[in-house]
Amino acid sequence: MKLKRVNFVCFCALLLCMVAIAFLRQYCTMPLLPYHMLEKETVLHFLLHDTPGGSSPSAVRVVQANGMAHNTSLTPFGTIWVVDDPLTEGPDLKSTVVGNSRGLYVSAGQEELMLVAYLDFGFTSGEFNGSSISMLSRNPVTQIEREFAAVGGRGKFRMARGFANLKCIFFNASNGDSIVEYKVVVRHY
Ligand SMILES: *[C@@H]1O[C@H](CO)[C@@H](O)[C@H](O)[C@H]1NC(C)=O
Ligand SMILES: *[C@@H]1O[C@H](CO)[C@@H](O)[C@H](O)[C@H]1NC(C)=O
Ligand SMILES: *[C@@H]1O[C@H](CO)[C@@H](O)[C@H](O)[C@H]1NC(C)=O
Repeated sequence: MKLKRVNFVCFCALLLCMVAIAFLRQYCTMPLLPYHMLEKETVLHFLLHDTPGGSSPSAVRVVQANGMAHNTSLTPFGTIWVVDDPLTEGPDLKSTVVGNSRGLYVSAGQEELMLVAYLDFGFTSGEFNGSSISMLSRNPVTQIEREFAAVGGRGKFRMARGFANLKCIFFNASNGDSIVEYKVVVRHY
């Protein structure tokens, strides 16, 4: 009889514990990390103007493989460009500048035209002024729509990872000038 009573008390205590745990789990969703360490998702939209042509180019050819000097192709294998391309809010180069894309494009396809981009997208206005996103990716420039991998970031984009969808909206085949629309999705802290 006494044992049964102890069992019953144990059972009640266990039940109470389970109810308490369920309650705490439902109402006390305390984050495991402090708030500023929680992951955020940011979506950015801008246009990139790449201008190898003209009197003040934003893309300059700095390296060319031996024997390719007279290649008339815009992107012969082994060529490297350094770029400082403005990023704007709208498709017009005169629209508000929000940042710049600085780094390298390497022509790295032997059998096909394929650029590999090593770029830092830095922002110069608004909430993300001073922060940047690092992109390291193939850039199959013959396709109108492409994707870049975002592999890191600085400032507000610390530990960023994500992707960018690119859409070429203007290309001049005679001098290589282009305007590319970017939609970037990154997760960061
Ligand atoms: C120029 O380079 C491209 C890309 O590497 C290649 O496909 C093409 O055959 C080259 N043309 C000449 C004339 O060497
Ligand atoms: C962006 O930050 C720089 C450096 O802190 C500052 O000089 C500049 O005025 C800022 N620009 C805007 C548009 O907030
Ligand atoms: C394309 O580039 C050529 C050579 O620089 C230039 O004469 C022409 O005006 C450009 N076309 C457009 C639409 O910008």
